Amino acid sequence: MRTNKLRLGINIDHVATIRNARGCGNPDPVRAALIAAESGADGITAHLREDRRHITDTDIRRLCAEIDLPLNLEMAATDEMLAIALKHAPHAACIVPEKREERTTEGGLDVVGGFNTLKPFVARLNDANIRVSLFIEPSLKALDAAKALDVPVVELHTGAYCDAPKGPKRAAILSQIKAAVAHAETLGLECHAGHGLTFETVQPIAALSAVQELNIGHFLVGEAIFVGLKASILEMRRLMDEAQTS
Ligand code: PXP
Repeated sequence: MRTNKLRLGINIDHVATIRNARGCGNPDPVRAALIAAESGADGITAHLREDRRHITDTDIRRLCAEIDLPLNLEMAATDEMLAIALKHAPHAACIVPEKREERTTEGGLDVVGGFNTLKPFVARLNDANIRVSLFIEPSLKALDAAKALDVPVVELHTGAYCDAPKGPKRAAILSQIKAAVAHAETLGLECHAGHGLTFETVQPIAALSAVQELNIGHFLVGEAIFVGLKASILEMRRLMDEAQTS
């Protein structure tokens, strides 16, 4: 059960995507993080990909130096990313699967098949007091494996739920997410959720009282083109709050 209010982490990757389309300095993802902080965000999330397609090493350095909010570094389980995480010691590190050819993080980590590979990465991050989460599908087996890996947090992938058309298909995936959230609570794992969330899809997830944090990026950055980043974040926050009280 949540004792505090549901946290909102803002993923600023796609501010960097727009910047990188021109190879200049604008728009600046660090400025976006500052606006997110002014708009009531509880954290900043950034994914440093192997190919640096959006966030760069300089962005991570600047986010650590210039932003007061906790940073959640999304990273693949590679030696290069582990060294970067240990160097910057962000508040949290979310281990995600990464394929060079994918457009976005397409599914959750294979925690069962990749158990032995993930183990030393989790151990090194735990030893450095970085709060580790694993980005997983809402599957009970994946949760059991995450628990055995000794992570404090899991983030449930909401991509399939968001992509499904509104109706029975989406409702069925929501049921799986609800079962996974309940299982995470039984296991004593802190539960986060994210990927693909929009104004239309956020409320059923925000209403799950054992979910502690949502990480949202692409939709908010897109919406910011029309209404501005602050208005876009404030509306997401309002919908999250409404879902928790209704
Ligand atoms: N959580 C994780 C672990 C992610 O990899 C991403 C995408 O980088 C998000 C949340 C945010 O997803 P979106 O940008 O679709 O809101």
